[in-house]
Formats: sequence, structure tokens, C-alpha cells
Amino acid sequence: SIDISSLTRQTGLTSLDYGFVNTASTRSAITFIDGEKGILRYRGYPIEQVAKRATFLETAWLLIYGELPSASELEEFDTKIRRHTLLHEDLKRFFSALPHNAHPMSVLSSGVSALSTYYQDSLNPKNPEHVELATVRLLAKLPVMAAYAHKKSIGQAFLYPDNSLSFVDNFLKLNFGNLAEPYEIDPVLSKALERLLILHEDHEQNASTSTVRLVGSTEANLFASVSAGINALFGPLHGGANEAVLAMLAQIRDSGEGVGRFVERVKNKEDGVKLMGFGHRVYKNYDPRAKLVKESADEVLAALGVHDDLLEIAKELEAIALEDDYFKSRRLYPNVDFYTGVIYKAMGFPTRMFTVLFAIGRLPGWIAHWREMNTDPQTKIGRPQQLYTGAAERSFPAR
Ligand code: ACO
Repeated sequence: SIDISSLTRQTGLTSLDYGFVNTASTRSAITFIDGEKGILRYRGYPIEQVAKRATFLETAWLLIYGELPSASELEEFDTKIRRHTLLHEDLKRFFSALPHNAHPMSVLSSGVSALSTYYQDSLNPKNPEHVELATVRLLAKLPVMAAYAHKKSIGQAFLYPDNSLSFVDNFLKLNFGNLAEPYEIDPVLSKALERLLILHEDHEQNASTSTVRLVGSTEANLFASVSAGINALFGPLHGGANEAVLAMLAQIRDSGEGVGRFVERVKNKEDGVKLMGFGHRVYKNYDPRAKLVKESADEVLAALGVHDDLLEIAKELEAIALEDDYFKSRRLYPNVDFYTGVIYKAMGFPTRMFTVLFAIGRLPGWIAHWREMNTDPQTKIGRPQQLYTGAAERSFPAR
């Protein structure tokens, strides 16, 4: 690889790279991906081991601070996060004021943006105490705000967090508990959700993480940068794909067109239709996260005693695509989003919450990258070049 920035300075050359297919914007020590081999490691640890052996917060610590926490570090981190789950009461009014049919991702990004108005003592990216406080506040409050977005969309009362519960269990209760009855945590749901969140924690320079870094490179605060990341994640080509996959599977079932005919439409690129949840910029092999999610889908649905036609359709689609020359020649495999929606649905989350779940999972990665960027002496404000294709100089009509 060459350092194009110094080459540009020396020669005046500019490289044109739509979609940054070949341009590294940074050095990073957080996550390693080998897309050819289907390898993903967090700080050197294989994702398969992390997903099965760690907790969500332990993984968050690993990503953010670079090493696994000791037992006492983890306990202290967990306690701090539990102590910061409460939202300012006025923020509840902020959520109440938004339309009930707003997409929960829009509600979430607005809520995170609003955090910088309430927590003005943690906005300075150059002050380590501010950064630490903003980190803990975001990790503690994002799940609460996500649950508010959910409750708002179904017209139920917001619940207060129960800080006797773990990160994941608290989140489940905030979403599925109500004021009228006690809520029992289902360990199957809890374990499955923890694993899914871990699988989403980081994925190096994807669109949302790059957005967080770009916004952060202007020395914007962490809340503002993460809010921008949530908006980038929202699109169906990125995190929004998990919602789009379920819509696609339901459309195949309800239209009765059949999996084979749908695949033909994808191959013929009819109306730009794609096989959502397939393909990846980096993986040219099976996405290692998708393998683990697929395993979980079978386990969770069996444990909950749920049969879902959509899971059968997803498996049929995968089987056809993996044998088909169109997908084989383009090296298109299921990505992390292909099977997650089926699990979230079985857990009871409405489709519009799926990308919100992705955002909660991805939060530690966004924070880790923002912090890494802020402490890297080589960081510069992100400012791509362009090749101008417009009009040459012309004279504005005299008046
Ligand atoms: N269905 C059908 N064809 C596809 C798909 C798909 N899902 N993905 C890529 N292709 C085709 C393209 O049409 C293109 O074909 P061509 O060579 O005939 O023009 C070829 O495969 C290469 O695809 P690109 O679009 O160049 O790949 P790129 O790296 O730019 O895009 C992306 C990656 C956006 C993920 C793409 O595969 C896609 O749109 N997938 C569906 C959406 C999705 O699942 N997104 C989630 C990604 S994972 C994540 O963000 C968490």
C-alpha cells in the first residue's frame, strides 16, 4: 500500500475512487477482516470465540480500551453504566412530542443528538474526562432511548430502567415489560440477543463507522458523531438491510411468486431488485457473522417453539443462490443481516426496530473508532477531493 496523501502533496495527483473501494482513510488497531477468507477478529480475538465466550459489555471494553478487562475493571464498568441509565425527565417529553408513526431509527438519532443539549459537561473531545463520561452515558442511555422509540411506536408507557438487571436483560424488560405486570426474563432470549449484539459490535470502516469518524474529525462531540452514524446505518444498503430482508421474505411468501421466480428477477435486475442480506463490500466468502446468526436462528426458534415460514424461505433462497452462477461469479454470500430479522421477529420486536438493534450493537465500535481517531496524532479533518465536471468559467449575464 502507498501513502497517497504524501504522494498527492508531492505530485499533485488525485485518485478517483467511487465508494472508497480502494482507499484506506486511516490506520486502525481495532478490528481485522480478511474478506477473502471470511475472517473477523476483534483486537485479535476470533469473532467465533468472542461471540460464544464474552458478554456484550466485556466486548465493548475490549474494543474501546484494547485489552480484555480484569474482573474488577469489568465490574466497575458495568456498575458505572447501570448508574447512568436514567434519562433526564425532560427527554421523555422530547420523545412524547415526536409522531407515534415516526421510524424508531429517526427517533433514536434525534434522541442521541439531543443528548448533547442535556449533557453539556461531556462534549469536549480533547478532555479525557468528558470523553469517558460521554462513553458511559451513551452506552447506558442508548438502549433506554431505543426502548422508548419502541414503546412510543406501539403506544405504551415508557418504563424506567431496572438497574438490578444486566445490560441485555434491562433492555428486554424496557421493551417487553409493562406497568401492569411483572416481567420474567427468558434466558433463551437474553443469551441470543447478547450474542447478536456482540456480532454487531464492530466491523472496521463500514459506512456508519466512517461517518462517525468523518464527523468526529471536525472535533464534533461524541453524541453528534454517533447520531450521524445512526443516520448512516439507517439506509437499506447498510444496517437497514435487516428490515429490508424481512420485507423481502414476506413479499415472496405473500405474493406467492415462489423463490425461484424471485431469484430470476434479481438476476435480471428487474426494477433494480436485489437479494437483500446478500453481498458485502469486503466479504467475498461467507460472512463469519452470518454463519453464527444462522446457527442462532435455528436454536432460538426451536427453543421458543416458533415455526416461521420466513426462515424456510430464507434457507431456500440461500440454497438456490449458493448454487447459482450469478451469485457464485460475483461472490455474493449471506451477510450478517440475512438471518437476524427472523430471530428479532421471533423475539417479538417489530420489523422497524431491527435496525435500532443493530445500532445498539454497533455503538461500542463507533465509540472505539471515534476515540482511536481522537488520540491518533496523524488524524486530520476528513475532506475528500473531487474531480470537477461542471461548466468552465462563463460570464454572469449583466443586469
Ligand atoms: N443481489 C443481487 N445482486 C447483487 C447484490 C445483491 N444483494 N449485491 C451485489 N450484487 C451485484 C451487483 O449488481 C453487481 O453486479 P454487476 O457486476 O452485474 O454490476 C455485483 O454484484 C457487485 O456488486 P456491487 O454493488 O459493486 O458491490 P458493492 O460492494 O458496491 O455493494 C452491498 C455491497 C451494498 C452490500 C451490495 O452487495 C448490496 O446492495 N447488498 C444488499 C443490501 C445488503 O444486504 N446490505 C447489507 C450489507 S452488510 C451491512 O451493512 C451490515
